[in-house]
Amino acid sequence: MSRVTTLSIRNSKVVEGMSPLVAVTAYDYTFAKLVDDLVDIVLVGDSVGMVVQGHSNTLSVRLEDMIYHSRCVSKGLQKAHLVVDMPFMSYQVNIEDALKNAGRLLSEGEAHAVKIEGGVAVAKTITKMVEVGIPVMGHIGLTPQSVHALGGYRVQGKTASARESIIQDAIALEDAGVYAMVLEGIPVELAKAITERVKVPTIGIGAGPNCDGQILVLQDFLGLNTDFHPKFVKRFAQLAEETRKAVGAYASEVRQKNFPEREHSFHVDS
Ligand code: KIV
Repeated sequence: MSRVTTLSIRNSKVVEGMSPLVAVTAYDYTFAKLVDDLVDIVLVGDSVGMVVQGHSNTLSVRLEDMIYHSRCVSKGLQKAHLVVDMPFMSYQVNIEDALKNAGRLLSEGEAHAVKIEGGVAVAKTITKMVEVGIPVMGHIGLTPQSVHALGGYRVQGKTASARESIIQDAIALEDAGVYAMVLEGIPVELAKAITERVKVPTIGIGAGPNCDGQILVLQDFLGLNTDFHPKFVKRFAQLAEETRKAVGAYASEVRQKNFPEREHSFHVDS
């Protein structure tokens, strides 16, 4: 089983007839191990702040949290490429901090690459990271760390000038040396135009079918997160229902003293 690398991801764009890249999020060893041979890329997203920590946005996630979750996920992967989000304000203040923090995500977090949000505004930082050997995945369009600046989680690129500025972001990322970029929450036509324009793979979420790959939050498409059902998520399973059914059955057997039975117990004579 050969490892998916930044090089194989970048090269997948130029291979004719290559199937789209498949990416999912994971935050722990158990899920990482389950998805490893089924996907190309596992992202330890800062969505951990919402999915695991219960916050209403990603802004309070700390670098230490990302290092911890990345390390857990790394233990479950043998084949998939592991990319980790740089949390809010871990790369925006200055290039020195960005390099130091990205370095910790690769060394202590055992990630293969980092993902950062933004285009033109972070291009210089990305150039420096790439120069020192830190692979960077870009993320443009709806950038959740800018939720307050954007006025909420809204589809981006609705006007011609907004579309032009997102195209400029994509070009800036490509010029800065990203090996792939996430396009989030933008119209299909804009995602298609960017995908045709840039030479690195685009990975869409809420960006339609014309990207070079797709990513979703695992808990969303497994139907584990019942509070959240945006248009771009398809539920491929209903695991919240299954989980509640199983926990209900366990609770009822314990209360009725039907569990544990003899087969689940240890005895001095067996
Ligand atoms: O944090 C995250 O999970 C992400 C993906 C949804 C792209 O950035």
